[in-house]
Amino acid sequence: MSNIAVIGPGAVGGVIAASLVQAGHDVTLCARRAIGDVTVALLSGDIKLVAPVLTDPTQGRPVDWVLVTTKAYDAAGAAAWFPSLVGPATLVAILQNGVEHRERFVPWLAADKIVPVMVDCPAERPLPGRIVQRGPGKMVVPAGEDGTDFVQLFANSGLQVSATADFTSAVWRKLCLNAPGAINALLLKPTGVFHDEAIGRLALVMIRECLAVGRAEGAVLEDTLADQLLAGFRAAPRDGINSLHADRAAGRPMEVDARNGAIVRFGRKHGIPTPCNEMAATLLATM
Ligand SMILES: NC(=O)c1ccc[n+]([C@@H]2O[C@H](COP(=O)([O-])OP(=O)(O)OC[C@H]3O[C@@H](n4cnc5c(N)ncnc54)[C@H](OP(=O)(O)O)[C@@H]3O)[C@@H](O)[C@H]2O)c1
Repeated sequence: MSNIAVIGPGAVGGVIAASLVQAGHDVTLCARRAIGDVTVALLSGDIKLVAPVLTDPTQGRPVDWVLVTTKAYDAAGAAAWFPSLVGPATLVAILQNGVEHRERFVPWLAADKIVPVMVDCPAERPLPGRIVQRGPGKMVVPAGEDGTDFVQLFANSGLQVSATADFTSAVWRKLCLNAPGAINALLLKPTGVFHDEAIGRLALVMIRECLAVGRAEGAVLEDTLADQLLAGFRAAPRDGINSLHADRAAGRPMEVDARNGAIVRFGRKHGIPTPCNEMAATLLATM
């Protein structure tokens, strides 16, 4: 059994925390406001999330693992918890989208304490106090001693966690999937919009820009990836709403800088033009 603090018990954090409690770990929820009773509808059934909740970042105690499940743009708020939760032996896993997990947190933590996590765990929080897992939860971490410990943490949790020697490809593949989500946020139209031929072509261009930049960063991505992803969007339920879209519709900040913004940043570094992602990132950032 490990002591684990989950900073940001929202959709992903709630599913992760409930799964870890079920697996027998000692979990503390670190929230920025009181959260009351929370029921998590895991794929295996509903469970009431029973775990201590802290709302004051100074009140933590050093734990074995800190799992950060805030949105990428809340990194500074999440980092306010580190002085109380992070001791000499603590590792901090960053369960966020994008490709800059370490870069985002090195202002507050030594790089060797950070374990980046590619998280693919469809989940939502339709109401306060209710979190719903929408599909199988998968995570990938870099191979090594810390990665092995992280995989071990999730034994018997119901989540599929693996370590890979090629983490770069895992995160860039996920970013290729996320890139066209900006189209939904700009149009405020759900996944069905990808059935439109012109929108489909735009999605392919955005994915191919990301793919070219990812390859320049060392990711191994197949030529057919863009077509595969578009086919996946077209096969998905037409009413699916991605998180950029949901955040814009609710008037919340969006993770556009961590997603399309990262494609543009890394593209510049390699001299690779990314005009469609740049337009999407600029328009969404200006809204
Ligand atoms: N949801 C998905 O299906 C999914 C799938 C794959 C990857 N991801 C990625 O996973 C990450 C988390 O996404 P999410 O959908 O779980 O987001 P979310 O539902 O918005 O949850 C984020 C949580 O962080 C909390 N938070 C923000 N600042 C905090 C602070 N300073 N201290 C403590 N808690 C704080 C928020 O509190 P409030 O409740 O007060 O807002 C919220 O509960 C993102 O990078 C996302 O892109 C999500």
